[in-house]
Amino acid sequence: MPALTLTDNHPDDGDHPVLFENISRDLLLKGYSINPYALPLGLAEELWQHLQQMPNTAFANAGIGRQQAYSRNGFVRSNLIAWIQDDCPAEQHWLQWATGLQSYLNRRLFLGLFSFESHFAHYATGDFYKRHLDAFKGQANRVISLIVYLNRDWNPSDGGELMLYQPAADQDPLRVTPTFGTVVAFLSEDFPHEVLPARRDRYSIAGWYRLNSSHPERVDPPS
Ligand code: OGA
Ligand code: MN
Repeated sequence: MPALTLTDNHPDDGDHPVLFENISRDLLLKGYSINPYALPLGLAEELWQHLQQMPNTAFANAGIGRQQAYSRNGFVRSNLIAWIQDDCPAEQHWLQWATGLQSYLNRRLFLGLFSFESHFAHYATGDFYKRHLDAFKGQANRVISLIVYLNRDWNPSDGGELMLYQPAADQDPLRVTPTFGTVVAFLSEDFPHEVLPARRDRYSIAGWYRLNSSHPERVDPPS
């Protein structure tokens, strides 16, 4: 993870400068950003509608790790995922929004984020995702994790909180209720986190901004 620095220029791109600016500053100052009800409402509604009409068969068991490291392990993680592509308007609009944030972070924080990958996640009652890191120092090219929640009328008694553990041992973990439109971002290598068991269906999008790790022996395709 490169050290973050804030540039002096004041980018003014698109419809979301306040949210994007808040996320940039939070990442710089704290390494994480939690923004309740912050996703543009039209986009949140469109993604929710899209989820309603997705067939169950679109969701597959989530693996731990990617590609060759793929292995299913129900003990660590029990939710289902569906990777997002750009083959329907809702997913296109999500990717446009996420790449807008990518450009903003690149200009504001000199990050050099190169690509973005994301999936829908469905946690049924009782599902969880135990404490884990999204990227490991030294080998990782996932730099920033981005999570958005699509749960209407979520009550604290519904469980399913995201627990974000701070790098400093003396700081309390952060507890995020997965309410509709809440946007969370954090440095992938620095914040272990977990999803507590949900007591009703819980929907989120999880995504990662990556650096380009290509070198001559191994081409890392953007996904
Ligand atoms: C993940 C993840 C958190 C959430 O998919 O890696 O940590 O709240 N998701 O859905
Ligand atoms: Mn994670």
